Amino acid sequence: MRGIHMIVTTRLSSSLRPILLDFVSICSPPRNFSIPRRLICAAATKANGGGGGGRSGSIVAPPLLNQDEDFQKIDVNPPKGTRDFPPEDMRLRNWLFNHFKEVSRLFGYEEVDFPVLETEALFIRKAGEEIRDQLYCFEDRGNRRVALRPELTPSLARLVIQKGKSVSLPLKWFAVGQCWRYERMTRGRRREHYQWNMDIIGVPQVTAEAELISSVVTFFKRIGITASDVGFKVSSRKVLQELLTKYGVPENLFGRVCIIIDKIEKIPIDEIKKELGFTGISEDAIEQLLHVLSVKSLDDLEDILGGAGEAIVDLKQLFSLAEKFGYSEWIQFDASVVRGLAYYTGIVFEGFDRKGKLRAICGGGRYDRLLSTYGGDDIPACGFGFGDAVIVELLKEKDLLPELGQEVENIVCALDKDLQGAAATVATALRDKGQTVDLVLESKPLKWVFKRAARVNARRLVLVGKTEWEDGSVNVKVLSSGEQFQVKLRDLE
Ligand code: HAM
Repeated sequence: MRGIHMIVTTRLSSSLRPILLDFVSICSPPRNFSIPRRLICAAATKANGGGGGGRSGSIVAPPLLNQDEDFQKIDVNPPKGTRDFPPEDMRLRNWLFNHFKEVSRLFGYEEVDFPVLETEALFIRKAGEEIRDQLYCFEDRGNRRVALRPELTPSLARLVIQKGKSVSLPLKWFAVGQCWRYERMTRGRRREHYQWNMDIIGVPQVTAEAELISSVVTFFKRIGITASDVGFKVSSRKVLQELLTKYGVPENLFGRVCIIIDKIEKIPIDEIKKELGFTGISEDAIEQLLHVLSVKSLDDLEDILGGAGEAIVDLKQLFSLAEKFGYSEWIQFDASVVRGLAYYTGIVFEGFDRKGKLRAICGGGRYDRLLSTYGGDDIPACGFGFGDAVIVELLKEKDLLPELGQEVENIVCALDKDLQGAAATVATALRDKGQTVDLVLESKPLKWVFKRAARVNARRLVLVGKTEWEDGSVNVKVLSSGEQFQVKLRDLE
């Protein structure tokens, strides 16, 4: 390795540099040996054309260590607000994601995915949303403004526009992906989270929203959550739109007004009134808006708006469909649900825990005009996002977290050092038959093997002993019953 350091720091031909750098980065140094960082940084700078001719992005090379500081002690925790997923957490994550995916498939959806890194422009909207201020964004080495996605909907809209007429509507797409928001950390809110999204593109009727809510209810039921644990608050942005129209407020202010109203529970009401006043809305209209937001029954809303408007018609149809889908007891009308994203245009909904201890469990709605904000033709669309953090908090509260241990069917172990090769043959034969095998790779006492079998929840032990193996056989011990038998390898199922 010393030799490599010397070569890296001397001048290299341009064709050799990348090869050697790859080699430096992939070859693992012996224990207790670390490549001095200043050498790698210096080499990386050279390889990237630093110091001459190459394009200089704004990603600055990390600071160099002092000449005599060859080691840097790192913080072993992940960055604030992010998580590692050691096996026990990964098991839970897979369990949750499998339910997300299974429910999506039950409803006939196809899975899609997008890059975690997108152009920043995709997430910049005019309405002053919180999500804009929470963006992880930077300039890449090619001087492009990019951002880690804070949500999946803009990427989905981008892909729908890109596909254009090549796809036949309606589309029913789902995705499970990581999102990044520089959030103030609270219970269930992190700087990185995974979101399950289901979206329907191309259906203007409320049947779409009704079925989306049905899929979330199906998910809740699968994991043991009932209508007495959670509910959905439902409203329509058309309620506000109809009021604003009545008061002559221009349509282009709609998104901005919704964003201000969404902050009602976060900032004092006087601030809300002040912010609404800044948009130019009359005091009268502000008072009426705030009054409507406190309405909790559709009949009262009908008294205020009259029955003929789209808001009432949509909401009534949703409640009627909820009955047919069989989830009436899960949903309630609540005019205060507006949601914090500017693009919603119709029905909006949020999943909440009935004890009121947690932030929103999920949320979604109709966004019929998002595509045109990106220059595409508008297509009616609606969907929801469901995070992986709040639901785990709720499952913990309800003592519903599943106990998930490692699961391996067989432990295969050679009883003699010389039989390590035979054990490998046995493991391969079992794996070829689709059985999971944890092969003991070192010479270990049987006591150790039994302990390991218990830890990984193995179903049986397959022991390779000299005498049996001469006959092509192995010893099998079924761990649940204690049953033990000898069997030819070819007959082992
Ligand atoms: P959202 O309400 O911003 O909507 O997020 C949806 C869900 O993602 C939330 O209800 C919550 O479960 C989870 N979530 C959001 N931020 C965080 C965070 N910082 N930490 C943990 N979980 C979080 C949207 O993102 C829309 N794009 C959803 C949508 C899809 N609408 C239509 N299609």
